[in-house]
Amino acid sequence: MDISNKYPRLSDLEAAAKRKIPPFVYAYLDSGTGHDNTKTANRTVYDSITLTPKFLRGRVDPDISVNLLGKTYQAPFGVSPIGLSSLIWPGAELVLAKAAKVHGFPYALSTVAGESIERVSAVGGDMAWFQLYAPFDRALCTDLLRRAAECGCKTIILTADVPAPSRRERMRIAGAPLGSRGNSTFSPRVIWQSMTHPEWALRTLMNGGARFRNMEPYANGQRGMAITKFIGSQLNGSLDWDYLAEIRQQWQGNLLLKGILHAQDATRAVKMGVDGLVISNHGGRQLDAAPHPLGQLQGIRAAVGGNLPIIIDSGVRSGLDVVRALASGADFVMLGRAFMYSVAALGRRGGDHAAGILLEEVRDVMAQLGIDSIKGLRDVHVGKL
Ligand SMILES: Cc1cc2nc3c(=O)[nH]c(=O)nc-3n(C[C@H](O)[C@H](O)[C@H](O)COP(=O)(O)O)c2cc1C
Repeated sequence: MDISNKYPRLSDLEAAAKRKIPPFVYAYLDSGTGHDNTKTANRTVYDSITLTPKFLRGRVDPDISVNLLGKTYQAPFGVSPIGLSSLIWPGAELVLAKAAKVHGFPYALSTVAGESIERVSAVGGDMAWFQLYAPFDRALCTDLLRRAAECGCKTIILTADVPAPSRRERMRIAGAPLGSRGNSTFSPRVIWQSMTHPEWALRTLMNGGARFRNMEPYANGQRGMAITKFIGSQLNGSLDWDYLAEIRQQWQGNLLLKGILHAQDATRAVKMGVDGLVISNHGGRQLDAAPHPLGQLQGIRAAVGGNLPIIIDSGVRSGLDVVRALASGADFVMLGRAFMYSVAALGRRGGDHAAGILLEEVRDVMAQLGIDSIKGLRDVHVGKL
């Protein structure tokens, strides 16, 4: 059956992904923290936004390209960084980087993804961004930045909102091996879950298991739980304002700071020379009382002015949500889980399928609104149900 008829909405792929991958992996992808209150609110916020169309504008042919950080992208959205994407579906990074290149939107590779920046930028080319978790070891940081620059990467996202690992209760319940937090071995339950999802298990084995190819050069040949612990010791809670200044000084390309929710943090970051902000609550995975970035947008915009690019993520699940965020004042939108559900459900076809739905939905919603450019969306009346 034609997959575009079977899964016409990105939300259709969530259930399909749940069937296809083991419960402990699905819990890793899907869960928030605590009671999932922030994660749930991320959806409620979008579902409650109304956009008022204007009519009698004749035939509307929307141009959905945008200029961001001096570059034209063919869509106003991109892929948020997802750690361990290759555990969720083997090769997910390459699938998404390829889709990003074909369709002309950015793909951000996580520091703790399964693939290396070298392999991903070979596929994603100028659409490949790199997300940095600032390591404790400054030499390691310098080397990661060197590698990203040598790969031709022009934009990095520095993530600020993981001062410590969060409790992921649903992962515990599903028996997920969590490295430095909770279960530290592959229990019989996890092995059973893997055996009962043979396609995932086989492909994961063929892909070398859970790899951290960006970090492997620094881990003295350690693998498995040992490298997970090494990474945990390097990446949690090292970032402060002085470290941001060092990174700003070292990195010549675009520097985006991700996870900012407070206008004071935003103002200070801009003074220190960041080129843009990704306002985000990490998809509800860090603090179960975090506000939604859309609620913070106005205050942050007022603090940093109209010219600084503000990118938004957390809870976006459709082209309609992308348009809702843009009409609310964001310059660009990113999606994390939505792309990953698609790849988990459809494997190699998942990147193009998700991209195809989003591109068509954004165009369709704009036509329904009578708006023919992304900038024009600012004129749309945004209300509440
Ligand atoms: C499984 C998973 C892993 C993630 N890993 C990272 C990461 O390595 N670095 C990072 O900056 N954000 C990470 N995030 C947060 C995403 O980049 C993004 O902020 C979040 O997914 C947006 O919410 P959404 O999933 O509702 O779109 C992760 C999110 C998920 C769901």
